[in-house]
Amino acid sequence: MHLSERARSIQESAIRKLDAAVNAARDVHFYKLNIGQPDVGTPQPVLDALAHADSPVLAYGPASGLMACRAAAARWHSRVSPGIGPEHVVVTQGGSEALLFAMVALCDPGDKILVPEPYYTNYNGFATVAAAQVVPVPTRLEDGWDLPPDAELDKLVTPNTRIFLFANPGNPTGAVYGADTLRRVAAWARRHGLWLVADEVYRSIWFQSPPMSALELEDHRDHVIVIDSTSKTFSSCGLRIGFLISRNLALMERVERLGQARLGPQPRAQHAAIAALSLPESFYLGVRETYRLRVDTMMEGLALLPGVAFHRPAGAFYTIARLPVSDTEVFARFLVEEFRATDRGPAESLVVAPGPGFYADPRKGRDQIRLAAVKEESVMRRGIEILGQGIAAFNARGL
Ligand SMILES: Cc1ncc(COP(=O)(O)O)c(C=O)c1O
Repeated sequence: MHLSERARSIQESAIRKLDAAVNAARDVHFYKLNIGQPDVGTPQPVLDALAHADSPVLAYGPASGLMACRAAAARWHSRVSPGIGPEHVVVTQGGSEALLFAMVALCDPGDKILVPEPYYTNYNGFATVAAAQVVPVPTRLEDGWDLPPDAELDKLVTPNTRIFLFANPGNPTGAVYGADTLRRVAAWARRHGLWLVADEVYRSIWFQSPPMSALELEDHRDHVIVIDSTSKTFSSCGLRIGFLISRNLALMERVERLGQARLGPQPRAQHAAIAALSLPESFYLGVRETYRLRVDTMMEGLALLPGVAFHRPAGAFYTIARLPVSDTEVFARFLVEEFRATDRGPAESLVVAPGPGFYADPRKGRDQIRLAAVKEESVMRRGIEILGQGIAAFNARGL
């Protein structure tokens, strides 16, 4: 039977590629630093709201989300960008669906989306479903993953480029773009008639100074879309609640229609999201402190490994590390299938995300891995230790 070109070409999640081998391995404990699934407890008010049924029927909710949830998200964003109202917010099933809606709303088949590379690997999947294409904007570890100058960006634009999409703070780099960079890119995008889609699902997780939201770019209000999510900030990845936010009401009307086609996001989950968005400011201090400690532990561990280069994340909880190995795809599989650290007794090993999954061209990033500082410090410390042992064993084998 026929399968569509999109179904045939959609990529396997680069981050979950090793799952089958991990599940098949016996008698080994894995330190899983490959996915952004924190082990931080979900805040109690969120769990309580989820458990509380206020109706005997689990009914549909409105396509764009419950008004109370849209209003709660609007209030949350109004703290940095006054004037955001519920009409500027659509509730989605995770930031993932918000990204998909943005791409479908803005791209015709064959249209192009510029994305700083390395980038969150699922952008490829959303683009495939939207029949659009990701065009990478190269950035480098040596430059702290900074964006190239306008003249370089100009070269990447074609008549069917529609979007400049970026994550700020970045996954997988942990880079945060400063206000000057955001303003420059917004002005550049506007000159080229491009939409600016800012994926801000990690905006509350920062270690130096708070990242500016693209919603603060008042001069560019009509061509900015922000993607937000309850997943990481509130350790609620399974809640599947995200937000698409824009002041462009013509766009929001179309996004409402996209939402109608899939009916509404889960009302109970939205009540839990309202509880999350109502947490006090002190909650965010705690979140940042939790991840700062984990990131610090990861940095200290990596600094002890000879030949490993990395950049300290300014936000989110990831870093790309450049390793002295021939091929990180082979190395990551070696860790899962062969290498066993036994210096503490029971066999242990590590799961990492190989670099190529974060590049449009899988020949790139072969000397890189992404690490997620999502586990408590003792786990991070031991995980990075095993990384060092694994590198030595891999190179000793001449693989
Ligand atoms: C940069 C980025 N954007 C979006 C998402 C999607 O998040 P969710 O659909 O859980 O809100 C993730 C998840 O890891 C991410 O890292």
